[in-house]
Order: sequence, then C-alpha cells, then structure tokens
Amino acid sequence: MRIGIIGAGKIGSTLAHLFVDAGHDIAIANSRGPDTMRDLEKELGDHGHAVTTEEAARYGDVVVVTVPLKAYRDLPADDLAGKIVIDTCNYYPERDGHIAALDDDSATSSELIQQHLTGAHVIKAFNAMRFDHLRDYGHEGGANQRYGIPVAGDDPAAKKQVFDLIEQIGFEPVDAGHLADSRTFQPGTDVYTADLTAAELRDRIGI
Ligand SMILES: NC(=O)c1ccc[n+]([C@@H]2O[C@H](COP(=O)([O-])OP(=O)(O)OC[C@H]3O[C@@H](n4cnc5c(N)ncnc54)[C@H](OP(=O)(O)O)[C@@H]3O)[C@@H](O)[C@H]2O)c1
Repeated sequence: MRIGIIGAGKIGSTLAHLFVDAGHDIAIANSRGPDTMRDLEKELGDHGHAVTTEEAARYGDVVVVTVPLKAYRDLPADDLAGKIVIDTCNYYPERDGHIAALDDDSATSSELIQQHLTGAHVIKAFNAMRFDHLRDYGHEGGANQRYGIPVAGDDPAAKKQVFDLIEQIGFEPVDAGHLADSRTFQPGTDVYTADLTAAELRDRIGI
C-alpha cells in the first residue's frame, strides 16, 4: 500500500520504518522540505521517499498526520479529501497554545481535525504509546498478549484498514468507538502511555 506521512519527527519517522518493514511504500514530509530528510530517506531505502506535505497527502491511500496539534489547520484539506487519515496528534496547551473547545472538553482533538479535513475519513490511532515503545514493542508478548493500540473513528471501513495496518506491525487494534470517544485515551487518562495489552485496554476503557 502507498502510505503518506505528514510529520517526520519521532512518531512519523518511527511509523515510516515500521510500515516499510511491513512491505509498504512511504512518502514522508516535514515542515522544512524534502532536502532536510535525505538521511531518513536513505535509512528507509527504496520504499521511502522524502516529499512535500502536499505530495505526501496526494501519494497515500492512507495518510498519517503526525504534527504538533497547533499545525493542524495547515494540513492540505483539498489533497486529503477522500483519504483515510490516521491522526496521532495530542493536545498539549503548553506546546500548542490554548484551544477553547479542548479546554472545555466540548470536542476531541480528532474531531477538530475531522472538521478541518472535510471529506477525509479521520481515524485516531498511535497517539497513546511513546514513540520508542511503538518502535520496540511490535510483535512482543505472543499472539494473544500483544500490546494494544486504541483506535477511534466514524467510518467503519476506514477503521478496518487501520486495524489491518496495526496488526501488520505487530500490535492489536482495540476498537474504542467514534472520534468523540477518543477522549478515553487522550493525555491525562489512565491508559495513555500505559503500555497495556489489548485486553487490559478494553478493561480500563470499559468496552
Ligand atoms: N513523541 C511521542 O512519543 C508521541 C507519542 C504519541 C503521539 N504523539 C503526538 O504525535 C504528534 C507528533 O509527535 P512527535 O513527537 O513525532 O513530534 P515531533 O518529533 O516534534 O515532530 C513533528 C513533525 O511535524 C512536522 N511539522 C510541524 N508542523 C508542520 C506542518 N505545518 N506541516 C508539515 N509538517 C509539520 C515537523 O517538521 P520539522 O521537522 O520540519 O519541524 C516534524 O517533522 C504530536 O501531536 C504528538 O503530541 C507523540
């Protein structure tokens, strides 16, 4: 599958490696342009390409958005229309500035991204595990004891495709409901970065 990745930091570069190792083709972008990612491109080999943000959006059947939340309005909504967008972003007001709808909990950060990306199918995933654990814990624990990745989204078919990707890199997807339900695994919850098996996650989230 062709996967675009917008954001080439800790999570973006980790997912790029995991997806290339699982047999996918990656186009990855940062804010500064492809020339600043030549080392990463070399590491990824023939199946990884450094591109612009718009190119990454157009390239992927699935596009991962993994930027500081404050940058979400810069995401190219036109290029992402019709795409499955995996949102890994978390809200940290000290980094992102205050966003009223998140401070009063009237929305989740993924719902704000979905509002901006009209026409995309936004799925929240990979936000609740530290990048180095995401890098190292895939396939650990044995078939029925894999680390779980909570997933939320409003489009069941898009969600299923993200479940498949999660399984391919050695984790167990946990269906945590709609984008509105993703507040159950945002920062501050007791599952956030807790490194739980899928069964433990279901138990703590109450699903
Ligand atoms: N770090 C973790 O363990 C972790 C775990 C789960 C979720 N998250 C969340 O996932 C997101 C990414 O985290 P991270 O730790 O990978 O961040 P990071 O290391 O700071 O990397 C952020 C990346 O986003 C790029 N970026 C920033 N603004 C952009 C824009 N307008 N257009 C395109 N690219 C842009 C940056 O480009 P430049 O390099 O050019 O600045 C950088 O490549 C955040 O929302 C974070 O809260 C992080």
